[in-house]
Amino acid sequence: MLGNGLFITGTDTGVGKTFISSLLSSFWSDDPRFRYFKPVQTGYEIDDDSHTVLHRGSLNADQVIPPVYRFTLPASPDRAARAEGVEIETQRILDCVREYKNNFILMEGAGGVEVPLNNNERLSDLMRHLNLPVLIVASTRLGTINHTLLTVEKVRSLGLHCVGVVLSGEEDEGLVTTLENQGVNVLAYIPTQNEASMDWSQLAADFSALKTTLELRLQPVAAAPSENHIWHPFTQHKVEKDFPKISKAFDATLLTDKGTPILDAISSWWVNLHGHGNREIAEAIAQQAATLEHVIFAGFTHEPAETFANRLLQEIRPINNQWGKVFFSDNGSTAVEVALKMAYQFHAIKGQPRSKFLALTHSYHGDTLGAMSVSERNGYHKYFLPLMMPVDFIDADDFSQLEELLPKMNEYAACIVEPLVQGASGMRMHSPNFLQTLQKYCQKSGVLFIADEIFTGFYRTGTFLASEQAGIQPDMVCLSKGITGGFLPLSVTVTTERIYEAFLSDKKAQAFLHGHSYTANPIACAAANASLNILKRIETRDKIKHISQKTEEHLTVLSKRHSQIKNVRHLGTIGALDITNDSDYFDIEISNRIAKTCMDKGVLVRPLGKTIYTVPPYCITPVELKRVYDVISEALGEIL
Ligand SMILES: Cc1ncc(COP(=O)(O)O)c(C=O)c1O
Repeated sequence: MLGNGLFITGTDTGVGKTFISSLLSSFWSDDPRFRYFKPVQTGYEIDDDSHTVLHRGSLNADQVIPPVYRFTLPASPDRAARAEGVEIETQRILDCVREYKNNFILMEGAGGVEVPLNNNERLSDLMRHLNLPVLIVASTRLGTINHTLLTVEKVRSLGLHCVGVVLSGEEDEGLVTTLENQGVNVLAYIPTQNEASMDWSQLAADFSALKTTLELRLQPVAAAPSENHIWHPFTQHKVEKDFPKISKAFDATLLTDKGTPILDAISSWWVNLHGHGNREIAEAIAQQAATLEHVIFAGFTHEPAETFANRLLQEIRPINNQWGKVFFSDNGSTAVEVALKMAYQFHAIKGQPRSKFLALTHSYHGDTLGAMSVSERNGYHKYFLPLMMPVDFIDADDFSQLEELLPKMNEYAACIVEPLVQGASGMRMHSPNFLQTLQKYCQKSGVLFIADEIFTGFYRTGTFLASEQAGIQPDMVCLSKGITGGFLPLSVTVTTERIYEAFLSDKKAQAFLHGHSYTANPIACAAANASLNILKRIETRDKIKHISQKTEEHLTVLSKRHSQIKNVRHLGTIGALDITNDSDYFDIEISNRIAKTCMDKGVLVRPLGKTIYTVPPYCITPVELKRVYDVISEALGEIL
């Protein structure tokens, strides 16, 4: 068993990839599953590697998959393609590979790992999507050590399995020792001979040890024992079993351990912004991890946290120029917990303790005790009701309830809202006008106004914060989820200088005595800075606008196609619809079946009760977004 395939790349062009491909082909030519594939051939009139390997490897014609792209110019693929007015689409190559999913493909790259395929992608992007083990070919020429070490490092940083390095060229035994001393696994050294007069079957016999080593390394990893020790979140383990195991992810795609791609239409619980495995964020993380992975944040500070706090404030101060301090914690719930505790202590310090909070019906602010208390008191939280703090709830957009509250407003320490969209309760949307009036009433009575933008932040609703569109100036804002682009847990609670100053005193006891071991983790802050860099680019904003516009269009088509859906709505990159029901009771099984059908068709949606919604990563392509909505439409057609 050889697994699915092997990708052959080189430390440079002309290092002997085709020579090694021919040798490996001759090892496996008897295996009917074996295929050789060189997807991009440049300099076609001089070199035809597929033809060379076919003959030298003694393959049958059907064991060679023809190149997807062939260009005359002997140059890098992007240049050779451009010279013929073509743009290489990696998706076409991936689609071709998918047709051979039951074969073993020996795939030969073009040049080295970072060779451009088009304006946006390099060979390394294709390799990451293919997720095949990699064999690196290096030659014994000057400069090989540096090129080999860099290539090995790059392949590993792509999360790919580097099976080893094969050297070809003039005899240089010392080179093998040097590379091995640097931790490079040299599988074989094959001195070049006159290729034209070479006896390929003799060569295959001479290097049978390489064949054995490769076959051992390419064996699929045995599945982990089925015993399961994990208790999953929000899961009734008695009925929910057998979860897909995700072994890799890139862009908007999750890849299971069986190689099945799943389009992530919900950004993995709304956290992912720029795509899974985003190269820029991954590199920022790697660099920060090698520089300063963590340091206690009480009594110390560091550059990644300071930079992020400054940049974030710069970004959001136009919404409320009173914002001046950023308190770090680890996730959405703790950001809310911090805001509630700060608000409570603020009033206590002023000598006017207020022990109640105000929140909106249908809200969700997290699962720690304080955050649960200000969330909808639904079935999820029913066991904890006796532990919760006092909170009054009003319905969003109900102005008369708001009027009724007026006489008791000064009982509340703070009011917390998810501005414009209440995410977890089913993407419920409300008006800016209501939020503005609520904030005005809060201001009049000294009630601190908290915007929980854990879901809505970072352009989910089309603007950096939803508060901007809502026309509100909250005293505090909580951010998490997309903050690191979806790579690492981190959150912030931003407050005004006025709130911060209330805690200043000669007495330590008056400080905000709250913190977590990983507060402001430098690696997470580095990811947040990298994500902010990407967010600020005009291309990202264009993508957000495009998703917003296309989501609206797809929803319109859906609502015309399916009479059983209603309340179709969208804001920014969020799209949602409700499944109609004749009675008050909605059978949740319907949503479960829709989710399962979508999943079987390769799209991850996670309905919220009767609400089906999409919150895709901003990197989703128009084709992928269309596929998401086509699949939802098919599922609605099949289930309703
Ligand atoms: C608006 C809002 N607040 C708070 C939270 C809790 O965040 P976390 O799951 O990171 O604790 C969520 C999570 O969905 C949320 O949507």
